[in-house]
Amino acid sequence: MCGIVGYVGSRSVSECLLEGLHRLEYRGYDSAGIAVISDGEISVRKKAGRVMELARLVEEQPLFGNIGIGHTRWATHGETTDANSHPHLGGNGEVVIVHNGVIENHDSLRNQLIALGYVFHSQTDTEVAAHLMAHHLSEQLKLNSDEPCVDTCLRAVNLTLDRLKGTYGICVMFRDCPDTIIAARSGSPLVIGVGKNEYFLASDSSPLIGCTQDVVYLADNEVVVLNATGMKIAHRTTGRVQPSIQTLDQVSADIDLGNYPHYMLKEIFEQPTSVENAMRGRLDEGEATAVIGGLNLTAQQLRTFDRVVLTACGTSWHAGLVGEYLLEEFARLPTEVEYASELRYRNPPISDRTLVFSITQSGETADTLAAMRECQRKGHPTLSICNVVGSTIAREADGGIYLHAGPEIGVASTKAFTSQVTVLSLLALYLGRMRHLSYPAGKRIIKQLREMPEKIEEALKCHERVQEISEKYAHFNNFLYLGRLYNFPVALEGALKLKEISYIHAEGYPAAEMKHGPIALVDEQTPSVFIVPKGGIQPKVISNMEEVKARRGPVIALACEGDKEVERIADDVIIVPDVEEYLQPLVCAIPLQLLSYHIALLRGCNVDRPRNLAKSVTVE
Ligand code: G6P
Repeated sequence: MCGIVGYVGSRSVSECLLEGLHRLEYRGYDSAGIAVISDGEISVRKKAGRVMELARLVEEQPLFGNIGIGHTRWATHGETTDANSHPHLGGNGEVVIVHNGVIENHDSLRNQLIALGYVFHSQTDTEVAAHLMAHHLSEQLKLNSDEPCVDTCLRAVNLTLDRLKGTYGICVMFRDCPDTIIAARSGSPLVIGVGKNEYFLASDSSPLIGCTQDVVYLADNEVVVLNATGMKIAHRTTGRVQPSIQTLDQVSADIDLGNYPHYMLKEIFEQPTSVENAMRGRLDEGEATAVIGGLNLTAQQLRTFDRVVLTACGTSWHAGLVGEYLLEEFARLPTEVEYASELRYRNPPISDRTLVFSITQSGETADTLAAMRECQRKGHPTLSICNVVGSTIAREADGGIYLHAGPEIGVASTKAFTSQVTVLSLLALYLGRMRHLSYPAGKRIIKQLREMPEKIEEALKCHERVQEISEKYAHFNNFLYLGRLYNFPVALEGALKLKEISYIHAEGYPAAEMKHGPIALVDEQTPSVFIVPKGGIQPKVISNMEEVKARRGPVIALACEGDKEVERIADDVIIVPDVEEYLQPLVCAIPLQLLSYHIALLRGCNVDRPRNLAKSVTVE
């Protein structure tokens, strides 16, 4: 949700910022802009639209220099116009800032600044911060005219931050302190890349890959002052901080498209590997259990928990629903799955015996972070299941499990979902084996888990078939997705994928609930996608298919090979491998991801950058 970059060093800054913005574009793509200081002047290029359009503008009107900041926007305040794009100048152009987050008290601050004579050129909350910086700078200059410029600028930043309510990751440059970038965070992430006589700033580590491996994650309430020869970090209340430099283990290949036309397709096809990586080193054949090292809780402590709460948003919430079924089945632990946006403002009964997990791909989702902090505030240990190493949630959680799925860049989540489900299966096995699950049952689960990468490979063979089917169905405007038990969350996820990237209305339901409402939608124009592989209650789902066909609704079915009954009823069948019911989400999600991908392509949609969405939602 908005991406920020910054650079100071000896590279050509425009190229460096534009490359960084390309890599952060998944965080927002309503507009983009950069600001560069050279010859004592701040110059800005910004434009509504994609980073590509900004790059064209910069080609026509180049900017030269070695220090600059940039931004790719997901609009919150004000439409997607050139004027509302970041960077924003403050005062008479003596300050320039980029910002990720929301300044909640922007209205009253704007009125105060207008009364002081500041002129606004945009509708954004960010411009308020820019003018406020300029205001405090001029006040400070009057008071301390002979101190080093950087100290005055830093004081202006701190005085401004004192007055902001809300969240920010912010980068600021001052015209009269032309070798320095000041950045700060509260709620929105910022990473510093440490090079040799150069520093990078970014909302996450992706722009740093290939530039430097040494990174420092800025914590909330920290401010950093950077120039080409050094960085100083201070906590806004406790003072100087000794930076902890960490090593990035990502390589450029992780973020290259390779031969794929889109990241989404690449990430769908990475799933045999990403699922394998989620299990690597975590299966213990001897003890018939999983090895989960990072929970920071002893087996004895884990045995005392009698309830689990899983909290997440979007696709991660769907993975949580699969987790609920797994934890209840394997570990007999009553489990609730809470939308993080609800949990953060509710007051649910969470006791010392409740184990809370935040599930998140990015580790930066604002609601998930707030829900986690709310639980921690009340003294409950909160763990995370997270993909992005070093993200805010991963760092603030009391322990957790990484997905090791590699960067997920397509906005619609695919491989993170299957990795989350895999990790939740491991967790259920681990907690189960401490409770009621027998040794032979644990052994069986391990064997089946080990087969999953191969089964996912097999599931991917449906690609051409799904492409054909997509052509037949791409023109419909309403879809139902129906499944039961472990495949109910898969139905929700299939519908979400279609909505997200094709802009087609789709609803996911437990198949049996269909007759309590959604069946009223069924007609020749409303296809239903049934997830109906082999399993205990498959005959019941087949009856639901019959009910749809009786009302002339077109039916696409995901079924195992040779399932004659499904073939007889459905208009089109997509074959999925036959796996244990609890593992079906891992294979059934695949054709649904591909279906949404191909339908979106046929409708001319931008699959990797769907409208109005962002990969990482860092605002409420
Ligand atoms: C956004 C993304 C979704 C994602 C959700 C939760 O809405 O577009 O794909 O599922 O955020 O993100 P998280 O990073 O917390 O899993």
